[in-house]
Amino acid sequence: MTQFDSQLAAAPTDHQVTAPSADTPKPALTPLAPAQFFATPVWTQQLTAHAALNPPMLDALADLEATTPSVKRSNVGGWHSETNLHHHSAFRPLCQTISRMALRCALALEFDFGRADMAIQSLWANRNGPGDYNAQHVHPNSFLSGSYYLTVPPDSGNIEIADPVRERVMDAYPLRADARHHMRRVEYRCREGLLIMFPSWLSHGVQPNRSHGMRYSLAFNIECVPKRPRKTGR
Ligand SMILES: [Fe+2]
Repeated sequence: MTQFDSQLAAAPTDHQVTAPSADTPKPALTPLAPAQFFATPVWTQQLTAHAALNPPMLDALADLEATTPSVKRSNVGGWHSETNLHHHSAFRPLCQTISRMALRCALALEFDFGRADMAIQSLWANRNGPGDYNAQHVHPNSFLSGSYYLTVPPDSGNIEIADPVRERVMDAYPLRADARHHMRRVEYRCREGLLIMFPSWLSHGVQPNRSHGMRYSLAFNIECVPKRPRKTGR
């Protein structure tokens, strides 16, 4: 290092921004709240009736797994059911709850019900055993997607939601270790009875099951059903 370089390093320039000192006036230290554009909605609801709701669905899944091979989607290992469980009577109560929640989500998104309705497009089950997981993915050709958790042993894998703003990879500042928001992903803790819903374009995955137990969840898609224009005239 030259003498000139060492002088530069030792003497902050007048345009250098440093951490506020303890004697800085307190009002000047408050974070400046930004307008938040392009927010990503994620909704959750804890079903208090899950203790009564889940056993009939788990029984139906045991029968289905015994008679149908696994479908391959985002699942790595485990068993993935067919995607038509919304036509199975054992899942009707949950479908009604999903529909009600989807309606409230759509209202929050200012969905124009004059132009379209919604429908459950698909419902399927995932059984993840030890080491099984779901790779990051999106749900194409759908409006809202989500999951409901039937059996979640401790350490059997949380859902991870990826930051949809790809350009943020160019963000260049050090994040505090105690920062509440991760730069690249959000890990949402799964628990039995939790219903989570988000836009279908939002990339997500499930962490590996690091327990010795079985993790059962249901996943679904909600689609838009455009209304046909009324025929007028004679
Ligand atoms: Fe998914």
